[in-house]
Amino acid sequence: MDYAKQYQEYLARANQALEKACETFLPEESEVCQAARYSLLGGGKRIRAVLVLAVCDMLNGSVEAAEQFAAAVEMLHCYSLIHDDLPCMDNDDFRRGRPSCHKQFGEATALLAADALVTAAFEVLAHAECSAESRIEAVQLLAKGGGDRGMLYGQELDKHFETVRAGEAELLNLHAHKTGALIIAAVELGCAAAGVRPDTDTRKALVRYAAELGLVFQIVDDILDVTSTTEELGKPVGSDADNDKTTFITLYGLQGAHEEAERHNATALVALGALGPGADFLRLMAAELLERKK
Ligand code: IPE
Ligand code: IPE
Ligand code: MG
Ligand code: MG
Ligand code: MG
Repeated sequence: MDYAKQYQEYLARANQALEKACETFLPEESEVCQAARYSLLGGGKRIRAVLVLAVCDMLNGSVEAAEQFAAAVEMLHCYSLIHDDLPCMDNDDFRRGRPSCHKQFGEATALLAADALVTAAFEVLAHAECSAESRIEAVQLLAKGGGDRGMLYGQELDKHFETVRAGEAELLNLHAHKTGALIIAAVELGCAAAGVRPDTDTRKALVRYAAELGLVFQIVDDILDVTSTTEELGKPVGSDADNDKTTFITLYGLQGAHEEAERHNATALVALGALGPGADFLRLMAAELLERKK
């Protein structure tokens, strides 16, 4: 399989779905809508959208539903990034190679733009071209992954452990929520678009894969914050140290953090073990996210 080519195809479909979602649900020329579109359409790897599309593809699900679910998860992710960059959070001035939303539009507009994205994300799901049952399931998945049992709780823990030192179990729990929960939601949205139920072995295996992938992804994010450059990453490096975060680097050093990422990558691959060649894209994606440079 040509992984890079396949990724580009998914990326193009994700970006088209996002353009369409903006036309329908964020069309106003208000400054808030402009700010939301600025952040949403200005780049990003779209790994969560790609996961929705790849999982749905693998399970022969509905292309339309998957594209709309993919757009929704990226909208929610983008809201989390706008808030994450605010002065009261990580106070970062760059995102995706451009000024952060609040640097470009001011704090109040950025705050509202993020709110607009999260509500529009749920509108996208509510209008998705699939059965009412699948739409409800998608709403449940995104709310759970993004809310205070998921990403939001992770962000709360992340702030908490700026002043209190986290141990290994606490840091794993933080990463599992702030990054893992939305990555799990993405994979489950792919299953929902394909009508694959939660109690199936396939879906359980995909969730285990996503949980490990989420950890790999955030450990590598922490590593790049130390080893990369702002130009390459498109966001400020050294942000974690500036904010006194506990990361895998502060706990184990760079080498130890790499080893942890490799360990979780290996477990992610074990989870896919029974899924056969249909899961090859997901296997290659895990390897790619482990080695990524941005
Ligand atoms: C950044 O996410 C925040 C984390 C959870 C690490 P991404 O690295 O996926 O950011 P984009 O969407 O590609 O900009
Ligand atoms: C943020 O983690 C994860 C979110 C839920 C937005 P980080 O704070 O490490 O993400 P970056 O490095 O700013 O993208
Ligand atoms: Mg943060
Ligand atoms: Mg941050
Ligand atoms: Mg980071």
